Amino acid sequence: KKPIIIDTDPGIDDAVALAIALFNEELDVRLITTVNGNVSLEKVTYNTLRLLKFFNKEIPVAKGASTPLIVDPVDASDIHGETGMDGYNFEEPDESLLLDEHAVNAMHKEIMSSEEKITLLPIGPLTNIALLFKLYPEVKENIAEIILMGGSTGRGNVSVMAEFNIYADPEAAKIVFSSGLPIVMAGLDVGMKALVYPEDSEVLREMNDTGNMIYHLFKKYRGGSFNSGLKMYDSCAVAYLLKPDLFTTVDTYVDIELNGDLTKGVTIVDLKGYMKQESNVKVCVDINATEFKKWLMENLRKCK
Ligand code: BDR
Ligand code: CA
Repeated sequence: KKPIIIDTDPGIDDAVALAIALFNEELDVRLITTVNGNVSLEKVTYNTLRLLKFFNKEIPVAKGASTPLIVDPVDASDIHGETGMDGYNFEEPDESLLLDEHAVNAMHKEIMSSEEKITLLPIGPLTNIALLFKLYPEVKENIAEIILMGGSTGRGNVSVMAEFNIYADPEAAKIVFSSGLPIVMAGLDVGMKALVYPEDSEVLREMNDTGNMIYHLFKKYRGGSFNSGLKMYDSCAVAYLLKPDLFTTVDTYVDIELNGDLTKGVTIVDLKGYMKQESNVKVCVDINATEFKKWLMENLRKCK
């Protein structure tokens, strides 16, 4: 089993990604860390615990950064609802899964004590991962790779050109992208094609408890109207980990714009090699959307 740490901000599409990762027999989810992102740190942590209770999974959770490194927090409750996971009546969670230590310390401990190298799966802003690398650079030796959801080779989803997870903490993203570790970027190029339609949602409704829960979340995601498809952004990172042949990738140099008045938080993906830099990221530029959907549904069928 592949040992992984998921850093997340649930978030409706985070909830789907977590369901798949937690029930997949090839993965060993060692730790889940939370980060301020779609909604506040308190809310995303509560949501993570609510999901674990629902899934009946005892995975340790550690609370991470409550604000980005430098910029002011942005909020995506217009998309995910006031709680960050509106639409389903969850049971009260089991707080005992919440560790006392900060996410960064919990990650450090888990990574350094693991016999096998750990894969990091960040599906929220990169604040915790950046702090981890600054505080404990030695962890890099025991990280296999980082497969993240974030960025775009083209346009954005939170500003004209920026994607939410990178825009929400650009300085942290800069630290992570320049870490020297192998990075896979599953950004908007693939996320915007990883679509679930109302008819799929109807299938989920009857599938199993998890499908039913997700069906209810989808009814609130973006206000519930998704005839043109709901984007399963965060599941793309999990999909890459488990089935990389769903994706077309390009190895290239990626940097983060920190100074642009109109382009702060943009991933500068140097597809044509203007910057004459060595490649530091494997960028997912395309996805087989039909096969992805099959994969998604098959994996959700494995859930409770
Ligand atoms: C990313 O932003 C969040 O709203 C989603 O959960 C996803 O991680 C997409 O840009
Ligand atoms: Ca997310």
